[in-house]
Amino acid sequence: MKIALYPGSFDPITLGHLDVIAASAKIFDKIIVAILRNPNKDPLFSIRERLIMIAEALAEKNISNAEVKVFEGLTVDMAKKCGAKVIIRGLRSPADYETELDMCFNNYQLAPEIRTVFIPPIQNHTHIRSSTVRELINFGKTDLGLYVPETVLKKIKSKMKK
Ligand code: PNS
Repeated sequence: MKIALYPGSFDPITLGHLDVIAASAKIFDKIIVAILRNPNKDPLFSIRERLIMIAEALAEKNISNAEVKVFEGLTVDMAKKCGAKVIIRGLRSPADYETELDMCFNNYQLAPEIRTVFIPPIQNHTHIRSSTVRELINFGKTDLGLYVPETVLKKIKSKMKK
C-alpha cells in the first residue's frame, strides 16, 4: 500500500490544501494529513478545531482514503511511524519552491528512504495562504468562501459571534 504523509499547520485548512489532498488521494492509496502541534506558534484555531475542520472537509469532498492525525517533532519521524515513504507538499509559486526545496533536502538528509513529492493546487487557488485567511478573519471578514471549505466558514462565523 502506498501511503503518503501531508504535513502542515493547517491553521486553517484552505481550498488550496484541499486540492492538494484530492490530487494526492488519486495517486496514493492512503493520505495521512498530519497537523503539527507546534509549541512555538500561537494558532488561531486549536488543534481540536483543526482536526475536526479537516475531517469534515474530507467528508464534504468525499475523499475516503485520507485521514487526519496530529504529531509533534520531526515530519520524517511521523512519516516512519505511519509507514509513509512519501511526504507531500503543495507548491503554489517559485517563492514556495525555494523554501520547500530546502525542507525537502533537509528531510532527505534525515531519512533518504522517504521522498518529497510536490503537488500544485489548481490555478484559481495558488494565491491562497492560511496566513492570509487568518489576517482577513482578524479584520472581521467572514465571507471567505473563495478561500476555505464550507466547514471552516461555519467555524469562522461561530468564532466571530463569540
Ligand atoms: O503548513 P506549514 O506551516 O508550511 O508546514 C510546515 C511543516 C509542519 C511541514 C514543517 O514546519 C515541519 O515539517 N515541521 C516539523 C519539524 C521538522 O521536521 N523539521 C525538519 C524539516 S526542515
